[in-house]
Amino acid sequence: MPAALIIHAHPEPASFTAAWARASAAGAAGAGYLVMRSDLYAQGFDPAEGPGHYAAPPRPFDPLKAQEGADPLPADAAAEMEKVRAAELIVLHFPLWWFAPPAMIKGWTERALIHGHLHRTDARFDTGLMHGKRVLFCVTTGADAAQTGPDGKEADTRLLLWPLAHTFRYCGATVVDPVLLHGVHGYAKGAEKPALEHRLAAALAAQAGLIAGIAQRPVWSFNSDADFDRSGRLRPDAPIHSPFITHGPAALTPRPARQETTA
Ligand SMILES: Cc1cc2nc3c(=O)[nH]c(=O)nc-3n(C[C@H](O)[C@H](O)[C@H](O)COP(=O)(O)O)c2cc1C
Repeated sequence: MPAALIIHAHPEPASFTAAWARASAAGAAGAGYLVMRSDLYAQGFDPAEGPGHYAAPPRPFDPLKAQEGADPLPADAAAEMEKVRAAELIVLHFPLWWFAPPAMIKGWTERALIHGHLHRTDARFDTGLMHGKRVLFCVTTGADAAQTGPDGKEADTRLLLWPLAHTFRYCGATVVDPVLLHGVHGYAKGAEKPALEHRLAAALAAQAGLIAGIAQRPVWSFNSDADFDRSGRLRPDAPIHSPFITHGPAALTPRPARQETTA
């Protein structure tokens, strides 16, 4: 029986994010998965890596060495890692907070994707240890669809999720195109409110079908190891899949500081 891990990060059990995660869990069970859950706030998961998690931390504290050499591993991180190892499908539910996943999700990656166990310098990217696993992000944003597209004032949500996607790609997993729900917030007024409730209810109702069809959902492209030269630079003839790894010109161009105005 294939297993699915449904992770969610929201401090409010009555939030839409929490309801969406429950819909994923029910959908995964209905699709024949053995379902594992990680409700990170309810578990009291500590997202901050540090020496306090280790019986005999290296001094000075080196997080990579601590993770690799820990015996025993920190119980909470090891439990998450075992769920990741067992899962064929990993679904992460979270709201976008300050143009990024919440610290709880970031910290989960820092502690649960344990160095020496889920990634090693000789087992990453094409040879990553999470090979064969699919990862799906289900994300809400307060900003609406216009503001979160490629030309949106709040920046393209897909690009904002790229560092998290690259984390899983580094570990060898396949990243499925995320499900994004925009304009989700508690400030809807008048006719906006029932319209938002209708959209959210439709997303919950669609989740089982989405999970059942996950193998057909498009996946993100990343460069293969062969696309880079020995120094780690993209070969001139290699394809570009995002502005993060490109042939240039650089996607971000600083302007001279002298143009800054002062009050
Ligand atoms: C600390 C914080 C930062 C936020 N930053 C953003 C942001 O950068 N972009 C955005 O669209 N929404 C932002 N929001 C709004 C949330 O994304 C929105 O409230 C959430 O997706 C609603 O889902 P929920 O009902 O499950 O909480 C932020 C909310 C909080 C609390």
